[in-house]
Amino acid sequence: MSRRRVLLMLKPLDVYTARFTESSQLHRFRNPQILRYLDDRCKVHNDTISLCQDVLQRRSLDWEPFLCNRLEQPIRHVDLVISVGGDGTLLQASHFIDDSIPIVGVNSDPTRVEEVQEFSHDFDATRSTGYLCAATAGNFEQVLDEILKGHRAPSGLSRISVCINNHLLPTYALNDILVAHPCPATASWFSFRIKGDGDDGQERSPLVNCRSSGLRVSTAAGSTAAMLSAGGFPMPISSQDLQYMVREPILPGASNSHLMHGVIKSDQTMHVTWYKKQGKVYIDGSHVFHSVNHGDTIEVSSRAPILKVYLPPHLLQ
Ligand SMILES: *[C@@H]1O[C@H](CO)[C@@H](O)[C@H](O)[C@H]1NC(C)=O
Repeated sequence: MSRRRVLLMLKPLDVYTARFTESSQLHRFRNPQILRYLDDRCKVHNDTISLCQDVLQRRSLDWEPFLCNRLEQPIRHVDLVISVGGDGTLLQASHFIDDSIPIVGVNSDPTRVEEVQEFSHDFDATRSTGYLCAATAGNFEQVLDEILKGHRAPSGLSRISVCINNHLLPTYALNDILVAHPCPATASWFSFRIKGDGDDGQERSPLVNCRSSGLRVSTAAGSTAAMLSAGGFPMPISSQDLQYMVREPILPGASNSHLMHGVIKSDQTMHVTWYKKQGKVYIDGSHVFHSVNHGDTIEVSSRAPILKVYLPPHLLQ
């Protein structure tokens, strides 16, 4: 059997080290506890990277490390992608993976409950969120072996596809998209309706015109992230439906209020028309976005290649 090829996608270390690149004068004003905490986060993340590399080195695998913020081309010709960081690293890597290559996330620096409590009156000592990550430094070797032996199966997670003016965007969202004015203080103006994909085009919701703080659409995997914080509901991880919510709608008459939050079924598409000079479609956070202009149309559906993810046990129940 040929050697299996693994790509190790790393969260860069310099996200923790702003202190080394700025004037040392500034540090007099910074809380030393926070600087120590950032140093420790950098060290723990770096130690996890070293551990993962050691484990891969000991297996007969072809492996290569790569910084996730350096990715530009779709990932091909590997059998497994391992992301080392938190959910953000896994999301960034997912944008370069089709439905043929599975990914597993390693949370390189999990939050420690005692630490968060100890510092709760001083600062927020939360570390990486690894909701979608199946491994940590503690169990990486075991999880990897189970994957290599075929004792774990990846789940197929739905993603969101976006077309702007009938052009399919190259990036599929694993968590959510946000359609909004780039300035958070500016109202977003748009209308939307949900249509069935049947060929008669008859099945469709009323047109909803709204002024608001934007529109969020999430997958099942993303329904427990920002969507939940905004008052949405968690969806079973295997669901192919999408959930949408208009953010802070201005409701002149309440007739459409029940349409401000709902579900886009797997055989439906949401058609949005944007009515402001500037707007952005953000994909899985702030790094990936596309601009829209007055009159542009945005089509949102779950007709996208799935992502194969080895999920942590708590998501598989
Ligand atoms: C990260 O770990 C490597 C190997 O263990 C070490 O050589 C390097 O100095 C570390 N980098 C930082 C920023 O801690």
